Amino acid sequence: MRLDKFICKSTEYALVDALALIENRRVVINSIIATEASHQVHKNNIVMLDGKTLTPRPSRYFLLNKPIDTICSNVDEQYPSVLKLLDVDRVTELHIAGRLDADTTGLVLITDDGHWSFNLTSPKNKCEKVYRVLLSRPISADATKRFLEGIILQGESKLTLPAKLHIIDSYNVLLTLTEGRFHQVKRMFSAIGNRVKSLHRQQIGNLELDVDIGHWRRLTHAEVEALSIHE
Ligand code: URA
Repeated sequence: MRLDKFICKSTEYALVDALALIENRRVVINSIIATEASHQVHKNNIVMLDGKTLTPRPSRYFLLNKPIDTICSNVDEQYPSVLKLLDVDRVTELHIAGRLDADTTGLVLITDDGHWSFNLTSPKNKCEKVYRVLLSRPISADATKRFLEGIILQGESKLTLPAKLHIIDSYNVLLTLTEGRFHQVKRMFSAIGNRVKSLHRQQIGNLELDVDIGHWRRLTHAEVEALSIHE
């Protein structure tokens, strides 16, 4: 973790204050005065502020059922940020692991653990995300095969990774992806001549959405572990 973040996670100081503390030579790492806010702090480093050892607060992990017309961003834009729904302290320290579009509903994960969210969203991890899709036209007979083989999205040259399609009825399907390209679900259906009318993420890995729309809960330790990669 960067030194300035480490200071914020261990104290009540904001990022700008952390920078000032470093500039004023009040922060020491392994007995050497720190000068760079971007310095990477490793697990066995001892970081001191004014002679007192800093210990970061444990990371936080939340699951939230995103309503329509909210955005997965830390700041409000045309619509309010989903973080507005999360009534916890120090919301500005949190970020969303794997965004959904404003008109998509469902499961979003929120954390202050950058390493965990990076691994979770990396296609290398092959973490499955399950989307329920309502289509504007009946699903075509060859869709399952085409998605499994991978397709080229408009403006791209690399095949999509194999995706599983489960047909509920001709307009309702479940699509399971292991990557998260920009507007991927909508663009995949557009590439096969269909259109997504509504989109809902219902599962990430083994984690199923189990709170009502607009509500949230903390992940258990076991759930956090199950979504972690162990290198
Ligand atoms: N794919 C999309 O097109 N939109 C989302 O919000 C998520 C996946």
